[in-house]
Amino acid sequence: MADAFETRQRPTRAFVIHPDLGDRRGQRRSPDLALEEAVALARALPAIEVVGATVARLRNPSPGMLFSSGKLDEVGAEIAAAADGDGAELVLIDGPVTPVQQRNLEKHWDVKILDRTGLILEIFADRARTREGVLQVELAALSWQRTRLVRAWTHLERQRGGFGFVGGPGETQLEADRRAIDDQMVRLRRQLERVVKTRTLHRAARAKVPYPIVALVGYTNAGKSTLFNRLTGADVMAEDMLFATLDPTMRAINLPGADGEARGRRVILSDTVGFISDLPTELVAAFRATLEEVLEADLILHVRDISHPETEEQAADVGDILDSLGVDEDVALIEVWNKIDALSDDTRAALRRTDSRRADVQAVSALTGEGLDDLVAAIDARLAEVLDEPRSEAVVTVPHDAGRSRAWLHAAGVVEREESGDDAQRLHVRWTDRQRRAFEALDGTPDAPGEDEDDTPPGRTPGGWDPLGRD
Ligand code: GTP
Repeated sequence: MADAFETRQRPTRAFVIHPDLGDRRGQRRSPDLALEEAVALARALPAIEVVGATVARLRNPSPGMLFSSGKLDEVGAEIAAAADGDGAELVLIDGPVTPVQQRNLEKHWDVKILDRTGLILEIFADRARTREGVLQVELAALSWQRTRLVRAWTHLERQRGGFGFVGGPGETQLEADRRAIDDQMVRLRRQLERVVKTRTLHRAARAKVPYPIVALVGYTNAGKSTLFNRLTGADVMAEDMLFATLDPTMRAINLPGADGEARGRRVILSDTVGFISDLPTELVAAFRATLEEVLEADLILHVRDISHPETEEQAADVGDILDSLGVDEDVALIEVWNKIDALSDDTRAALRRTDSRRADVQAVSALTGEGLDDLVAAIDARLAEVLDEPRSEAVVTVPHDAGRSRAWLHAAGVVEREESGDDAQRLHVRWTDRQRRAFEALDGTPDAPGEDEDDTPPGRTPGGWDPLGRD
């Protein structure tokens, strides 16, 4: 995938296609809005200039070419006519494309093809800043390549020429490629484990910091970074680009005191990566690293772009992801209805009425500052309630093979000390009733599918993640 863009001065001319499968996959989103999101994704890459975009209706995806021959010509003409006749060099297809389809389409249209997973991987690679982020993205990219090798193999195809140096006698190039990828994935996983371990230690140290943590979550482009900047006065990258934030950013701020001076409660504000719908399965692990910060938050701010036509669907997606991370539904959460400046006066007034009725909703504009004083007061009030919650002590016995439970407790920051027994760990915890219930509910959640499961259907994010991404 990295060779999709050559290093050059001018950006690559790209054409975006959203294949509209109709109701076949229970798609609930409007194809036009899906195309808009795909274009915004493409724009997140500085190396790309979007020169055209279209929705292509796809009744029966063809195994060889994806599109029907009529559609092929129709879209092909659009691609060639884009950029005042210069044509596009890269076509981004907002969905899965098999290696065979990719090769055939590249030949037919004389362009490079990148599918949705490939595009998101490029964006992640461009944005990853921490060691853990970089490793997760590399792992995701390898896992993606591996599934493509498998599929290519069934078609007796050779996908790529790399990794030629391994392979014993009688081994086909594909088996060798596959083995080389597996070996590299094992190495990366080992490195990741070390990084995660170090981070868990840091977290344990931070859990002793007596400041409550407020985590910002939200659909991509909802305005989290803009709000974060407003609240902290920091200059975190806020751009009209998806995924401007891949790694969490944390900053301590003072909430204003009763007299409006900045000397009230000190809190840590944590910005997280934006969520998207239809996150390709291979990329789930790359998200976990950043999202697990949310587990230890005392208060979650769910930032919503209330001016977006699909704000409800976006909110439902975010809710699903929080659930699958093991975030308890009773956790203190404020919905921040952002971008009210982009609404008509009537809609705005109606929202303001809702927000005055519901303590868990605050309508704001991170851009103009409207509503932010109320939001800050609500954060302060809600934290006062949360921090007053009584905590009890308990000893939890966790079998050595129950890595998920242990990881959850550490991620939630409730472990005071730990003893190793013969077949189990004894964890001394201090937690609220809410945290205890969330932990007990965890038992019933299935574990995440491993990266190796080629038959995991692409599309929706799987539920029941291990907070620390262990196998
Ligand atoms: P990701 O990093 O992709 O998760 O995005 P984000 O949620 O951090 O969004 P970000 O703060 O980067 O804002 C996305 C876009 O929305 C930018 O163009 C902002 O200027 C714009 N934006 C943010 N808040 C508001 C607002 O209150 N009103 C309006 N009109 N635009 C806003």
